[in-house]
Amino acid sequence: MSNIDDILSRYREGSHESLIPILQDVQEMEGYLSESAIVRIGSFLHMSTTKIYGLATFYDTFRFFPAGRIHLRICNGTTCFINGSSAIISVIKETMGIDAGQTTRDGRFSYELTACQGGCNDGPVICIDGTYHTHVRPEDIPEMVTKLKALADQK
Ligand code: FES
Repeated sequence: MSNIDDILSRYREGSHESLIPILQDVQEMEGYLSESAIVRIGSFLHMSTTKIYGLATFYDTFRFFPAGRIHLRICNGTTCFINGSSAIISVIKETMGIDAGQTTRDGRFSYELTACQGGCNDGPVICIDGTYHTHVRPEDIPEMVTKLKALADQK
C-alpha cells in the first residue's frame, strides 16, 4: 500500500468534507501535494482535480512543489501583520522571485505564510529551518537571503 493509500484508508470514500484533512495529512507525510497525489485523492473522493486545486490554492498552507533546501515559515498572524509582516513578505517575494508555496528554480528556497507562531511580542517572526528570527525588518531581508544562499549551497 502506498503512503497515500495508507492515509486514504483512514477516511470514507467519496466524503468531500474529508478533503482538507486528507490534503493536510498528505502534505505532512510527503512535504507537498504532488500532481499524482491530487489525482489519487480526486479519484478517492470522486472530485475533479480542478476542484481540488481550486480549493487547495485557497489555503496558503498547501504546497504543490517540493520545499527548497532552505524553507522559511513567515508569520502572517494578526500581531506580526500589524507589525509589518506584509512588507517583509513583499521583499522576500521580490528578492526570491517566488510566491508563498513555490520553490525557486535553483531549489534553494521556498517559503510559506503561517498563522501565529507564538512569539507575538518579538514579531515579526520568521522561522527558518527550525530557528526563529525575531523583530525582522524589511531592510534585513536582502542580507538574510545572501547568507541563506551560502547556507543552501552547503546543503
Ligand atoms: S502573530 Fe506572529 S508570532 Fe504571533
